Amino acid sequence: MSKGITREILEDWLKNVRPYARDGKVADYIPALAKQNPDDLAVAICDLDGDSVSAGNEVCCFTLQSISKVLSLALALMDHGEEYVFERVGMEPSGDPFHSIYRLETHNPSRPLNPMINAGALAVTNMIHGITPDEKVGRLLSFIHEMTDDRSITYNTEVASSEYESAHLNRSLCYYMKQHGVIKGSVEETLDAYTKQCAIEVNIRQLARIGAIFANEGKDLDSGRRILPMHLARICKTFMVTCGMYDASGEFAIKVGIPAKSGVSGAVVGTVNGYGGIAVYGPALDGKGNSVVGLKLLELLSNRYDLSIF
Ligand code: DON
Repeated sequence: MSKGITREILEDWLKNVRPYARDGKVADYIPALAKQNPDDLAVAICDLDGDSVSAGNEVCCFTLQSISKVLSLALALMDHGEEYVFERVGMEPSGDPFHSIYRLETHNPSRPLNPMINAGALAVTNMIHGITPDEKVGRLLSFIHEMTDDRSITYNTEVASSEYESAHLNRSLCYYMKQHGVIKGSVEETLDAYTKQCAIEVNIRQLARIGAIFANEGKDLDSGRRILPMHLARICKTFMVTCGMYDASGEFAIKVGIPAKSGVSGAVVGTVNGYGGIAVYGPALDGKGNSVVGLKLLELLSNRYDLSIF
């Protein structure tokens, strides 16, 4: 493992950041997520050869939530190309909370500012090829199976239906976008696919491997086979820098300097070209929906091992 990082070193880092969990709160607006234990922490680093080191709860699975937005964007770009996708979803950071509806009304044309906020991600899921929601999610799962080399990965049905039933805000974003022609077809089916996509479960090593494939410019770590075109991997990483932490992306770029994406389950994935992928998990979130422990751990690791891309 590059930079000599061992399991013992990662266990030590986890011990140092553990107290920060008290400063955050587990997401409960998706009722099933409220069951997560804020003290359940994990970290993994995967290098470009596919070798990984991890610490904390390595067996426990967590849902991808907004991290899935990077993968659905990659799939939609492979399905349709950049022109089609970016006619419907913009490329600019919003500076607003991830679930905000505000810019849809004030921005002209009425399209979401970027694919990382909920509005943009819902529009992206709507675009993915597939006649039924399950076909869309099945294609996303196949993409994830290819990246992780694990065909058993699926979505957590309890978390998916818990979100589907309580997604009033996301529903309103969809209806707003349907009115303006950004979303086509059934809103309920788009929400069904989106909530299943967000509920896809991985473990910490699998998430670090996904980060490493982006760092490897879209190529598989073992075979070198291309999973995703290089220029699309770059687009995804750029969105991770500019929008990956929502309205905390600027501060994160300064303090950590790693392209990264967070999810309200408390997971964060980072990707460093020429180095690998880093995944952290800690369900207690700050007010902007990012893992408190995760951000602290990434900041410490980045500073100690000089991982900033800037
Ligand atoms: O749509 C939602 O609200 C969730 N399924 C995902 C939001 C999320 O993960 C925001 N990230 N920090």
